[in-house]
Amino acid sequence: MGKTTPERFRVYKNVFDNFTLRTLFDLSTKKYFTMENLVPISIGKEANVFWGQGKYGDVVLKIYRLQSCDFNKMYDYMRYDPRFSEISGHSRKVVFAWAQREYRNLLNAREARISAPTPFMVKNNVLIMEMVGKIRPAPKLKDAFPKKPKEFFDKLVSDIKKFYKFGYVHGDLSQFNILNNKGKPVMIDMSQATPLSNPNAMPFMKRDIKIICKFFTKNGYEVDSEKIIKNL
Ligand SMILES: Nc1ncnc2c1ncn2[C@@H]1O[C@H](COP(=O)(O)OP(=O)(O)OP(=O)(O)O)[C@@H](O)[C@H]1O
Ligand SMILES: [Mg+2]
Repeated sequence: MGKTTPERFRVYKNVFDNFTLRTLFDLSTKKYFTMENLVPISIGKEANVFWGQGKYGDVVLKIYRLQSCDFNKMYDYMRYDPRFSEISGHSRKVVFAWAQREYRNLLNAREARISAPTPFMVKNNVLIMEMVGKIRPAPKLKDAFPKKPKEFFDKLVSDIKKFYKFGYVHGDLSQFNILNNKGKPVMIDMSQATPLSNPNAMPFMKRDIKIICKFFTKNGYEVDSEKIIKNL
């Protein structure tokens, strides 16, 4: 981008590499968001998440970092996913495949009719999806325990089952990756979701259920993970 970088991109020069800036520039010219009003929401292990506004209204941008990314972990998770077993190496391509995987998983979630954000676009390491929440992003379950835990929990388990019947497991479910959208659960952070043909799928599924049950039980709503696993 160099000297021709528009002023509004300069503030991000220290945050993102030039490759990512070019991708963002391209997406902003396609009106998915405007660069001026991006609001940072979260800086995670692998991605920076922003809230933006554009032709689809409020959106969330998940920008996987090309530096300081754990290529090995990503690669390790993907090699058993038949859809991505061809991906190899330790380069940008692994990160792009990781972003693609989250995009496709969100499409699958939609097709399975479970509550998850609608994905709008993925390009290179940038994923754009629907923002969950009105006016502002919905809080995480960990920060907003539902007033009606039974209702929330039952809907969550019903979505887990639906996704399972559709042939998928989330694989990284916890109070951090479930949003409380006005008392209703929405699953996010789908990059680790995988088809049941992955030999790790069942262990992931059981772990997901155990983590959620433990969280609800700790907060005073007692649930038995074994019973749920048995009734899948
Ligand atoms: N579609 C969305 N709508 C509203 N808020 C979102 C949405 N997606 C992500 N967020 C917010 O951004 C935070 C981080 O997103 P996410 O969990 O997908 O990434 P992450 O945990 O940083 O990923 P990783 O662990 O792979 O780095 C979430 O906890 C949530 O608060
Ligand atoms: Mg997360």
